[in-house]
Amino acid sequence: MKHITADNIEKMEKIFRLNLINSCTGYKSANLIATKSKSGNPNVAVFSSVTHIGSNPALLGFVTRPLSVSRNTYKNIKETGVFTVNHIHEKMIERAHQTAAKYDEEISEFTKTGLVEEYLDDFYPPYVQQSEIKLGCKYQNEYKIEENDTLLIIASIEHIYYDEGIQMPDGWLRLDDAGTVAVNGLDGYSLPSLLDRFHYARPGQEVKSFFTKAKNG
Ligand SMILES: Cc1cc2nc3c(=O)[nH]c(=O)nc-3n(C[C@H](O)[C@H](O)[C@H](O)COP(=O)(O)O)c2cc1C
Repeated sequence: MKHITADNIEKMEKIFRLNLINSCTGYKSANLIATKSKSGNPNVAVFSSVTHIGSNPALLGFVTRPLSVSRNTYKNIKETGVFTVNHIHEKMIERAHQTAAKYDEEISEFTKTGLVEEYLDDFYPPYVQQSEIKLGCKYQNEYKIEENDTLLIIASIEHIYYDEGIQMPDGWLRLDDAGTVAVNGLDGYSLPSLLDRFHYARPGQEVKSFFTKAKNG
């Protein structure tokens, strides 16, 4: 097996290091964060750092890059306190990827990419119409990550939209049925397929599958 050390990482060519370090921690969630400025300009951008923080209260977080250049998503969230998180569907990966391009604030990525704004239940920022799973979120707090000047944004989940057909009776959403993709690194989009689901693990108890009889003998 190839072995890389911290010293090797430090001396690597920039893009090679970026690709290695962005992919070595595993698949990430693939979402579009949509916002609208106070003056009414919509904005949408791809984020791979959206993650679960807690279920009661329902919280998520995401990491925003250093504010050394203007960040429209962050600025709009600070102005309005709200944003939406929209799963990237397998059919929209090119459009979603294009939202990473640095457009000026007054240019909406919606008009540039063909993603469609959708307004639901009087929530101020748009959702992405083509997304199968969408969350309406309210800013709660932010924490500076001192090591690299990034910010962890914490938000409460105020609205959830999805097709009922992808939900199992216990609440769990079947993301493969929704066509939700995952990101490998900063530019690889994958479509995960479900292998199995297991009951709550307890010490000394055999792993029990939801779908099949116990595996591996
Ligand atoms: C696959 C992918 C994932 C990304 N994830 C993040 C992220 O988690 N945080 C971040 O700040 N930028 C991320 N970016 C970069 C933003 O999409 C990019 O900076 C975008 O222009 C931000 O738009 P804004 O200035 O309108 O907020 C990612 C880009 C790509 C291609």
